Amino acid sequence: TDRYAVFGNPIAHSKSPQIHQAFARQTQQLLSYEALLAPVDAFAQSLRAFLADQGRGCNITVPFKQDAFETAEQLTARAQRAGAVNTLWLAEDGKLWGDTTDGVGLVRDLTDNQQVGISGQRVLILGAGGAVRGVIEPILEQKPASVVIANRTVSKAEALVDIFKDLVPEGCTLSACGFSDLEGRQFDRVINGTAASLAGDLPPLPDSLLAANAACYDMMYGAETTVFNRWALGHGAAKVMDGLGMLVEQAAESFRIWRGVQPDTTEVLADLRAQLK
Ligand code: ATR
Repeated sequence: TDRYAVFGNPIAHSKSPQIHQAFARQTQQLLSYEALLAPVDAFAQSLRAFLADQGRGCNITVPFKQDAFETAEQLTARAQRAGAVNTLWLAEDGKLWGDTTDGVGLVRDLTDNQQVGISGQRVLILGAGGAVRGVIEPILEQKPASVVIANRTVSKAEALVDIFKDLVPEGCTLSACGFSDLEGRQFDRVINGTAASLAGDLPPLPDSLLAANAACYDMMYGAETTVFNRWALGHGAAKVMDGLGMLVEQAAESFRIWRGVQPDTTEVLADLRAQLK
């Protein structure tokens, strides 16, 4: 049996085994998928042991996405630009390949699952860390009207603009700012990628930030409505979404890379949602 896994630390509560096992049943692919704990200072060794013991591919989560980026022998163009890898596999060429599927996961959840388009919209992204860097390219591919990256540390947002400025499509703009610069501006799509919400915190956002019909997306999720989504609902958002769909869709894209078949995510997502309650 082909062996797959997710590496992280901690990893015990990862939903990836459940998701991929469901995909495998649904598509009748014979494979195993397990959660593997790697020591924080020994990701490469853990990965090597796995690959030497029937491992065909793996997902990488916190805190190893940077290590995976460095360990991969070949990178897809989007992984190169994202500076992180969440999907590794041994390819036909004998090389260990790395890709990132987080951004595709976010965009598929928005556009396919939620029917929230990005094309022609004014998009605001909050945060400029690793999570945000992974989603900018697939968002730009949707041809939004504009993308603004707002961050506490403005220089980090500016650095992201520099990395992605060559990918900005015709008629779209990409810019960076601080939270205080958002005063007086309005957006149709606001995506929260700050780690602030993990601590129940919120970046300082102006009250009038959301345009009529604005849709808001929090990359994190939980049993309760997230702090950011509560703020959004209180400030006129027409729709709020959390990151559970992104989790399932990034897994589906990894599965497609490994197995060449596209799993259907509807039921898996509904099951996970029900379990959160
Ligand atoms: P991740 O991989 O989750 O993106 P990261 O790379 O450490 O983690 O990035 C964390 C992001 O959350 C950054 O944009 C950070 O802002 P700074 O670049 O200014 O540090 C943001 N962040 C974390 N705590 C925050 C807070 N309390 N308020 C606002 N932004 C915060």
